Amino acid sequence: MIAVDPFDLVIFGGTGDLAMRKLLPALFRRYAGGQVPNESRIVGVARSHDSAENYRGVVREAIKRAVANADAQTLENFLGLVHYYGLDATQDAGWREFADTIATSGERVRVFYLSTSPDLFVGICDRLRQYGLNGKDARVVIEKPIGHDLASATAINNAVGAAFAESQVFRIDHYLGKETVQNLLALRFGNVLFEPLWNAAHIDHVQITVAETVGLEKRATYYDTAGALRDMVQNHMLQLLCMVAMEAPASLDADAVRDEKLKVLRSLKGIDQNNAILFTVRGQYRAGATDGAPVRGYPEDLGKPTSQTETFVALKAEVGNWRWAGVPFYLRTGKRLPQRVSEIVVQFRSIPHSIFAPSAGPVMPNKLVLRLQPDEAVTLSLMIKSPGPGGLRLQEVPLDMSFAEAFGVAQPDAYERLLLDVVRGNLTLFMRRDEVEAAWRWIDPILAAWETNPEAPKAYTSGTWGPSAAVALIERDGRTWHEDAA
Ligand code: BG6
Repeated sequence: MIAVDPFDLVIFGGTGDLAMRKLLPALFRRYAGGQVPNESRIVGVARSHDSAENYRGVVREAIKRAVANADAQTLENFLGLVHYYGLDATQDAGWREFADTIATSGERVRVFYLSTSPDLFVGICDRLRQYGLNGKDARVVIEKPIGHDLASATAINNAVGAAFAESQVFRIDHYLGKETVQNLLALRFGNVLFEPLWNAAHIDHVQITVAETVGLEKRATYYDTAGALRDMVQNHMLQLLCMVAMEAPASLDADAVRDEKLKVLRSLKGIDQNNAILFTVRGQYRAGATDGAPVRGYPEDLGKPTSQTETFVALKAEVGNWRWAGVPFYLRTGKRLPQRVSEIVVQFRSIPHSIFAPSAGPVMPNKLVLRLQPDEAVTLSLMIKSPGPGGLRLQEVPLDMSFAEAFGVAQPDAYERLLLDVVRGNLTLFMRRDEVEAAWRWIDPILAAWETNPEAPKAYTSGTWGPSAAVALIERDGRTWHEDAA
């Protein structure tokens, strides 16, 4: 592991859920791994005028919760890097002193992580500029939601762009930091085996599933204004689709990769009020059971029986270009589904002609399954002869590689890689402005079609795979959702 140079990382929203559950534990793990030098500073910024000591106490507990067997001495050493600054980011008061404090570490990489509500992005970026904190070594990290439609995303991008050059802006999509997603790059472009087959002539369809068992959690205010399409499809799922569908970039340089992803987003065939009914299904969970326990429905979780927000989406997308013409990409995601599983299934076409007798059994088409969660693995299903005597019978077997077993190493959390990429200035796994906007350009007409269609999201029982219409969506085409997930 190569250590980075000492840096400052300022977390606005330093006491928030993301900071405590993800960012600080990820920084601790990289510190324990020897990549974060002791001269670095991690500054939590929040509105309350708390003391640094209290803040460190909260961080200590958060890390103990998130990191099993955290070494006590390493944790204390890490806490030595942690500082706290009480500041109301929406008011001018205190900013001068804050800027002076931050500047004391001299010339070094300075990362401003906006782990706040997006309403604050514009104001914070503006003040970072006003108080001279946007120099060439400064970087700003923004989390989704980047807007709730194209217009609001453009407004945020404009405001961030007024303070920082595009090369300083790191738009995080944590799915891109997941090991399997990068493994997709390695599999596709590090082997000769797949790429000649990676097209409409050999691939029948692609499925992308991101299923969760959790419900609304404590995010009612945000989630009810977003829904699954904005929360998961506009960003994570479209990014996964891009990684599957993009052409080989000339290199792993940020813009080479992002140019190719952008082309995919721009090639997506439009879904609007003319075809939304055919190509999209939205659902909302009702009472049922997940993870072995009874759970309430969305309206009760929310305390608002009239909400039309979808907690489940299934849709059929198509990338309109030569490589993918006619190959459906079926996407589905939802809360309160039977299991937590995220996977990409690439279903190859059937063999063109069978030489086997009917008694040999069916010849199943090959399937490449890339599982992102709960455990990361790649499986390629192949047909073999069923072992033993008694004539030639065929059997489908998985060529299975579970990374945890194969390498005996714990997979790093996505934020570990992404945070260090920010410090190193590597933008490859971050979304460029035009990608975010192209994704919204495709999503907006779907949202508009749903708004004009008075039909409410279809109810589904918690612990099931969404409304039956989602099954019909794929079965109408003579296909089924991948059975490990369905
Ligand atoms: C977030 C969404 O971006 O991703 C959440 O806002 C969702 O609603 C989460 O639960 C899923 O992330 P992961 O890494 O747990 O699959």
